[in-house]
Amino acid sequence: MSGLWKPAVYAYWFVAACSAQLKQKPLAVTILDKPLVLVRLPSGELLALEDRCPHRQVPLSQGQVTADGLQCPYHGWTFASEGRCVKVPGLPPQACLPKVGARSFDVQEFDGLIWVRLARHADGEQNIPRLITDLPAGSRRFLWQTSWTSNIVNALENFLDPLHTHFVHPGLVRKDNQRQRIDAILSQTEDGFVVDYRGQLQQSGILYRLFESPRISERAYYAQAGTTQIEYCYEDGSVVRISLHFTPESADLTHVFATMHIENRWAPAWLLRLLVWPLLKRVASQDAHILALQTQNMHRFPASYHASTELDLVKAYIEQFWLGTEMNLPQSKNISLFL
Ligand code: FES
Ligand SMILES: [Fe+2]
Repeated sequence: MSGLWKPAVYAYWFVAACSAQLKQKPLAVTILDKPLVLVRLPSGELLALEDRCPHRQVPLSQGQVTADGLQCPYHGWTFASEGRCVKVPGLPPQACLPKVGARSFDVQEFDGLIWVRLARHADGEQNIPRLITDLPAGSRRFLWQTSWTSNIVNALENFLDPLHTHFVHPGLVRKDNQRQRIDAILSQTEDGFVVDYRGQLQQSGILYRLFESPRISERAYYAQAGTTQIEYCYEDGSVVRISLHFTPESADLTHVFATMHIENRWAPAWLLRLLVWPLLKRVASQDAHILALQTQNMHRFPASYHASTELDLVKAYIEQFWLGTEMNLPQSKNISLFL
């Protein structure tokens, strides 16, 4: 991937930061190679502006939030709602303020995360995926973020495809010598796809044995542009959903925001943080490591082609969206595998 993004991608909402990160100080973030500054004004209003003062191009993220808005650190121009310039220190009171403001983008807060959209689409408004807006209120137990040295397609495939788990997370997630035959059914949805894994009611890794109980179902969802979710439903009526939001910063760097939502089970946040989190963090660092190796090697062999088998169920669907390749992929696909 070149970092030259498909134009349609800019019309989607991406997670830019965790809500808790944005306090009194401006926060610099990058989405799709666009440097931005996020600000929470004293009124509570959120701003997402291009990280560039229109006066002399200084990064606004180095400025400070005042009662009037975001103040540039160089000459103190101050920007408020929609990036409007509301103050130029030194101008006589009767003088006109410059018409030019800082470029402003749509921003909203949902599920403990700050979401930004870089462009509006002509044919209808995209919104945050229903997969996330439909999550039961109050079920979030956990929120975390990291960065992976990986392009977004490979990062998405890594999370959605379970066949690496025996090797990258041996013992923790699955064991290579304890595979079970299961069916995987991929179906396209209105904004992505879902893979239904049928027949793996128990899993061979220690994570399952420590924290899970017999399952009814396991599903992996993808919702454009960067949202994924693994959903486990259990016989005891509880549901665990691990969502990862992928935000491309550049061609080789993808920011990952993870949440865990739990329903109908006693699982306080402190307990998860104490017991489950150290193991999940280990899983995440194993993924980060293999993805970094993949990225480095793709630079050593830039023209190389990926070979796949029928087991590689999700990649073509992810590429269809992110690379804009017309592949005429089937609405649904059914494979058998040993997982
Ligand atoms: S560069 Fe920002 S106020 Fe001059
Ligand atoms: Fe993994």
